[in-house]
Amino acid sequence: MSTLTDLYREIGACQRCSLYKTATRPVPGEGPDNSQIMFIGEAPGFHEDQQGRPFVGAAGQFLESLLASIKLKRDQVYIANVVKHRPPNNRDPLPGEIIACRPWVQKQIELVKPKMIVTLGRYSMEMFFAGKTISKIHGTGQKRDGVMYFAMYHPAAALHQQSLRQAIETDMLKIPALLAEMEAKETKNESQPTQMKMFGF
Ligand code: URA
Repeated sequence: MSTLTDLYREIGACQRCSLYKTATRPVPGEGPDNSQIMFIGEAPGFHEDQQGRPFVGAAGQFLESLLASIKLKRDQVYIANVVKHRPPNNRDPLPGEIIACRPWVQKQIELVKPKMIVTLGRYSMEMFFAGKTISKIHGTGQKRDGVMYFAMYHPAAALHQQSLRQAIETDMLKIPALLAEMEAKETKNESQPTQMKMFGF
């Protein structure tokens, strides 16, 4: 599997858990294959399931307005979900479904190679910040292996709760500086001799 298109085809045929049986379409994710930022949500809802695209309902509209607050359009970032098929009646994804779907998220990360991964909500956070609590770590970045991981509340939750809404809006505004930090690091590494890079200078 070498491109996102190949990956989407494979996800479309996925039967690793039973969600494909009740879903209308797979929702693999979308965005440029060289996106610097990847947003990872929870699971497709009704509208996503109908259209085969992530974050196209109310939460998606809110995500777009959050992106606009940092001068980004949705087609400039990569958007994915932990689970690629809609759970029936929008129930939470089950542990087995998340485990079954995890290789697809990993492949997306391998192919896109984002500098920053933004988790939206608890299920996505758990994948990258195991054992952490969202109310404690939201809005904080953690650098690992050249990638900045950043946890945010889920836009759907924040849409209806004023305190979370303020938090998600504030957290979003931190993204440009964290991304710039990763870019600056990369530029510095590129201009250094290999030996210095090996020693992490
Ligand atoms: N909520 C999610 O987590 N993902 C979507 O794609 C839509 C709503």
